[in-house]
Amino acid sequence: MTTTKSTTKRTTKTTSAARYLPEDRRLSSLKSAAEHCRGCTLFQDATQTVFGHGPPGAPIMLVGEQPGDQEDRAGLPFVGPAGRLLARALDDADIDPGMTYQTNAVKHFKFTRKGGKRRIHQKPSRTEVVACRPWLIAEIGAVGPQIILCLGATAAQALMGPSFRVSTERGHVVALPSEDDLEFDPEPSVVATVHPSAVLRDRSERRDEAYQLFVDDLRSARAALVSG
Ligand code: URA
Repeated sequence: MTTTKSTTKRTTKTTSAARYLPEDRRLSSLKSAAEHCRGCTLFQDATQTVFGHGPPGAPIMLVGEQPGDQEDRAGLPFVGPAGRLLARALDDADIDPGMTYQTNAVKHFKFTRKGGKRRIHQKPSRTEVVACRPWLIAEIGAVGPQIILCLGATAAQALMGPSFRVSTERGHVVALPSEDDLEFDPEPSVVATVHPSAVLRDRSERRDEAYQLFVDDLRSARAALVSG
């Protein structure tokens, strides 16, 4: 009796975006290439890749966690409720949005379904954040920001490492860790703060204070710009 070997192809689960990055590292090429990223499994359920948005040369780069429901549909970061709060805070901190490049640590929306239709945000895993990190690093290289403002722990830990604590470091101007893939010329500084959705979710009497502290952190980032 002859046995035939199964020819079923196994799909290898890749967990890095690295091999999807193009040689041409300009923002427009990165954005087009990211549309086809299969570096982790999040692309399967999301509508589209939500790449960063803003001009190359923007002095401030804002990094969020991942696109939300509205961003997933629109294909742009920070267009939903958290984005609206962020826009108000930027205005209060005297930061022109045109001076910012806005992106996320993870470029696909991760969610679970509730009641059949509603899509509920799910925090990306460390593996997914690490898989997506080559895009973020390439964006930093292409934009060349002076300041990277990390919004929330996911963004901060994507760049500063998993032991970084926003609770103790928020508002401080810090350097990127010395790692080979984090060498940029010029070298950006990092400021971390809470995620705008944490301010939105705060239903306590301290919400105004939470908002003011958030604006203060944005002002610290603004003050750290070389041109002032
Ligand atoms: N939250 C994020 O972290 N990023 C977005 O783009 C929207 C909401």
